Amino acid sequence: MSETLIISDGTKEDKYLALLPQIQSLVEGEQDMIANMANVAAAIFETFRHLWVGFYIVREVQKSAGGHAEELVLGPFQGPLACTRIRFGRGVCGAAWAEGKTLVVPDVEQFPGHIACSSRSRSEIVVPLKGKDDGRVFAVLDIDSEELSTFDDVDARYLERVCREIRN
Ligand code: SME
Repeated sequence: MSETLIISDGTKEDKYLALLPQIQSLVEGEQDMIANMANVAAAIFETFRHLWVGFYIVREVQKSAGGHAEELVLGPFQGPLACTRIRFGRGVCGAAWAEGKTLVVPDVEQFPGHIACSSRSRSEIVVPLKGKDDGRVFAVLDIDSEELSTFDDVDARYLERVCREIRN
């Protein structure tokens, strides 16, 4: 009888369980939000090798008409070049911001208004980051994959925990 050696690189959950303490120790000694976002994006990217991992940050913008509003502005990321600004409610990122909840998109072509920063992106997850005191969304974590249906409830659960580590 021949024996087959199965070498597994671990389940998705195993990878998140290894990633979480790494992220906690990265952010616990550092107060700067941008520095923490940069290391968190790199840690997720190095672990999963997704197409794109990064943050968009809610910023006030001066409107030419005089009033002001807010937009998402590109923050630290790993992967191909990306669009720099996303308006409230636009695309998956803007929708997750507006709804204040995680959005899992199995097929970006089926998401009305999806913003295609890269034509290679096929599925996506966006997780809002909320202020500890006011609960307001101050940024979103966006992850894009070249495969369909990459993300599920496991990603949502662990990435929400990751995002709770980052404070504005
Ligand atoms: N696809 C996103 C835009 C950001 S890029 O994917 C990095 C969206 O629809 O909001």
